[in-house]
Amino acid sequence: IFVKAEGRDMVNAKAPEHSLGPDYRPEKPMATVSTKVPHDNVHILPQTPQLIALLTMIRDRNTARADFIFYSNRIIRLLVEEGLNHLPVVEQTITTPVGRSYAGVKFQGKICGVSIMRAGEAMEQGLRDCCRSVKIGKILIQRNDDTCKPKLFYDKLPEDIAERWVLLLDPMFATGGSATMAVDVLKSRGVPEDRILFLNLIASPEGASNFAQRFPKLRVVTAFVDQGLDEKNYIVPGLGDFGDRFYTL
Ligand code: URA
Repeated sequence: IFVKAEGRDMVNAKAPEHSLGPDYRPEKPMATVSTKVPHDNVHILPQTPQLIALLTMIRDRNTARADFIFYSNRIIRLLVEEGLNHLPVVEQTITTPVGRSYAGVKFQGKICGVSIMRAGEAMEQGLRDCCRSVKIGKILIQRNDDTCKPKLFYDKLPEDIAERWVLLLDPMFATGGSATMAVDVLKSRGVPEDRILFLNLIASPEGASNFAQRFPKLRVVTAFVDQGLDEKNYIVPGLGDFGDRFYTL
């Protein structure tokens, strides 16, 4: 749904569903909203003005590569932080420098990242920025041009991956073909489905729904669910080819 909002019409707009911004801001700009998906295991980041502004930058065809990288990295950071919220924590009480105790928590369990090459590799730094010296595996899956089916070409995964929580990284969740194959690989190496978190920037509703039903225990964390796919399976409105815009354009 796109709600056109211009000039003064944006102020105190009457459609709160489409308006952005915390209550303490009087102005309420309107923006395209994320599509709802009826699956508890698909988590969409809070649709804050910051996030929508970042998404607007990277979706814009006129955004130069350096800016695309910079703003994508900010969204990736939000996704990683939200992904980490799904990991278990245990209680931990500490003493502060002023001698008071504080009842807090600490992370429990080991994690690793697995990027789906090539675009998923763009998300590795964001994970490293949050989790120092995190192990990162890689999976290369490409679509066969004749059959249109994904084919596994290469994987290199941490040996102890079955004991870890896995953050699977791929920025664009279109049909879900590669992600499905990647999850099958992870499960074949002993990773339980409920210890996999799939982080992506933009999902298609059909990809997210099919995937959520096929892997009901796995969690998807996405910044936005778009309107759909075009005839070439690009996400629309989308942002074009993420790998090209991040690495080569
Ligand atoms: N991969 C991309 O980079 N973009 C899309 O829209 C779909 C898949």
